[in-house]
Amino acid sequence: MTEPVLDVHLKPEDAAHALRADVRAGLTADPKWVSPKWFYDAVGSALFEDITRLPEYYPTRAEREVLADRASEIAETTGAHALVELGSGSSEKTRLLLSALREHGTLQEFVPQDVSVSALTEAAHAIMADYPGLRVHGVVGDFTQHLSLLPGESPRVVAFLGGTIGNLIPDEREKFFRTVRDVLQPGEWLLLGTDLVKDPETLVRAYDDAQGVTAEFNRNVLNVLNREVGGDFDVDAFEHVALWNAEQEWIEMRLRAKRAMRVTLAELGLTVEFREGEELRTEVSAKFREEGVRQELEDGGFALHRWWTDAEGRFAVSLAQAI
Ligand code: SAH
Ligand code: TRP
Repeated sequence: MTEPVLDVHLKPEDAAHALRADVRAGLTADPKWVSPKWFYDAVGSALFEDITRLPEYYPTRAEREVLADRASEIAETTGAHALVELGSGSSEKTRLLLSALREHGTLQEFVPQDVSVSALTEAAHAIMADYPGLRVHGVVGDFTQHLSLLPGESPRVVAFLGGTIGNLIPDEREKFFRTVRDVLQPGEWLLLGTDLVKDPETLVRAYDDAQGVTAEFNRNVLNVLNREVGGDFDVDAFEHVALWNAEQEWIEMRLRAKRAMRVTLAELGLTVEFREGEELRTEVSAKFREEGVRQELEDGGFALHRWWTDAEGRFAVSLAQAI
């Protein structure tokens, strides 16, 4: 089998540099925070795949339902020659789109982009094996920074699935939409997956499952810091917290120190103190409403063309067109 092409826009040394700068900024801030970008080392990416199969974590199944129902309509509407996927992870659900676009006869190239080298490499190989003749051009990069370098022949569909847009705060989302819009030509497409506002119990359970997989995923970021910047976090001394912020309409993930402790990050020459009960902020996962999505897309230079949800109305997929 031929190998997939892999472009590396985020070299290991750039990633290491970005991580250091981020960790220093976050751990010296009040309240302390860690950027969610660093969740996805090989262990974190594998844990995320476990999350997608949890009974409580409905977004993956709900989004897959929509894609299964609408893939051929998406193929007919867009006639895409290239499918670009941002934060592609395992690209499992994406196969529904690839198959429909192939069936339609227009698809030539698949361009998955992710910060996680392990997830990207695995997915690119698996897709190549299962879609003979498809050009697979993986891009290791940060979708908040390296969008201008995306390959692919027009017309393109840029897919951003999994509700990952909700892991950006509103300012970052605004910048993200504008940047994606800038790399597209008028008439090209954005396919966006957004989790929807619903009862808080369902939402909190999706981010605090009974088996503790999400807790392990959240705590794993401390293993990443221990390894990458010589940290000595006692990972088991932190507990996973997921709460619903009704005002912002987002889930907040935090790690709460079970006791007071001093943590040293040797490679940063940094020592930080945690009080008992102090919380380190790790991630938000914003939940959306149709009008909000339409507005954000419009502000970014896109027109909402179709809005689809699963039968239970839990998760939406939007097809938007660059103006
Ligand atoms: N799209 C997949 C995976 C979602 S998990 C799905 O729907 O199941 C989020 C993915 O985004 C992970 O694979 C993670 O590595 C990637 N990611 C997170 N932050 C990123 C960033 N700043 N740039 C590129 N990829 C990022
Ligand atoms: N994009 C996913 C989401 O917001 C990421 C995610 C799922 C996540 N579970 C998590 C991030 C737990 C941190 C902790 O649904």
